[in-house]
Amino acid sequence: MKVAMLTSGGDCQGLNSALRGVGKSLYKIFGKDVDIYGIRDGYRGLIYGDIRKMDPSNFSGILTLGGTILGTSRQPFKTMCLPMPEFGGKTKLDMMLENYRKYKFDCLVILGGNGTHKTANLLAQHGVNVVSLPKTIDNDLWGTDMTFGFQSAVDIATHVIDCIHTTATSHGRVFIVEVMGHKVGWLTLYAGISGGADVILIPELPYDVDKVCKVLKKRKMQGKPFSILAVAEGAYDVKEARMKKKERMAKRAEQGYTTATNRIAKEIEELTGIETRICVPGHMQRGGSPSPYDRVLATQFGSYAAGLVADEHYGVTVAMVNRHVTCNPLVDVAGKSRLVPDDCDMLNVARAMGISLG
Ligand code: F6P
Repeated sequence: MKVAMLTSGGDCQGLNSALRGVGKSLYKIFGKDVDIYGIRDGYRGLIYGDIRKMDPSNFSGILTLGGTILGTSRQPFKTMCLPMPEFGGKTKLDMMLENYRKYKFDCLVILGGNGTHKTANLLAQHGVNVVSLPKTIDNDLWGTDMTFGFQSAVDIATHVIDCIHTTATSHGRVFIVEVMGHKVGWLTLYAGISGGADVILIPELPYDVDKVCKVLKKRKMQGKPFSILAVAEGAYDVKEARMKKKERMAKRAEQGYTTATNRIAKEIEELTGIETRICVPGHMQRGGSPSPYDRVLATQFGSYAAGLVADEHYGVTVAMVNRHVTCNPLVDVAGKSRLVPDDCDMLNVARAMGISLG
């Protein structure tokens, strides 16, 4: 059995724990009858043939290590089928298929998020035996209740909000903590609730800045001049919700903003007179050692993936559904994302706690 592994897209905590889960379980199942190969920097390594044989020692001592020992890169899906002059007119897909066949791999284990899964599905449709694992701090992969990386990022974003809380209280300021999450609000919602934010703004619920200011003024009148807003990097207001994405981005660029955070701060100062500061933890949310939860989840997913390889059950992605590890057809997962639904329990919790959702 010849298995190749790659990690693709933005990194997150738990990638090495998952690689270890797959590797150690494969050696346990197959003993000397398995060769594992590591592909460098995601699909880039498969395109350029940057591939090396691994051995059991590569999977030791990495359970708690952040990042990915294989490296990663972003290779946009839309470029996969374009003829490339540097490959004599062949596409990146052609190059990946050639390398897969050249090495005579039996299957490819792919660790990635949304973009990665589109390409994984493309490879599967062209005859590659694929087993994939869901990683991302955004928790937005369709078909799984949880991705690894998410809980570690919640821990970090929560810690940021906790730290901001004390300085915001001392100064009686409003603080906006901009939380990652791409186009979805899972990370902001969880970190906002666990950090005790007063306002949580997520892309799924376009906000009205007047409503936000009302909350801040009311708090001030109640003797609480400080407030914490957890704002998703993808959040937008009700006016922007009526615009097409291109128009929205153009308007923001004109005003010198990329995310809504700076504009919200300016509007709050103008409308309430309360001094407002911004904190953007950014990629810190993807960094450092995985939390114990993510170590367990990634190990569970990794060993399950090894079982799928042993059963030659391909074209699937590992998932957690109702607390059970299972798998979904790749074709069902590719190209979809999981938004925070209107009836999400956590939205109801936030409302019950008096947190404004804008
Ligand atoms: O998808 C994970 C993520 O961290 C998002 O939350 C964020 O929008 C994006 O990646 C940042 O991407 P990059 O690392 O390419 O700046």
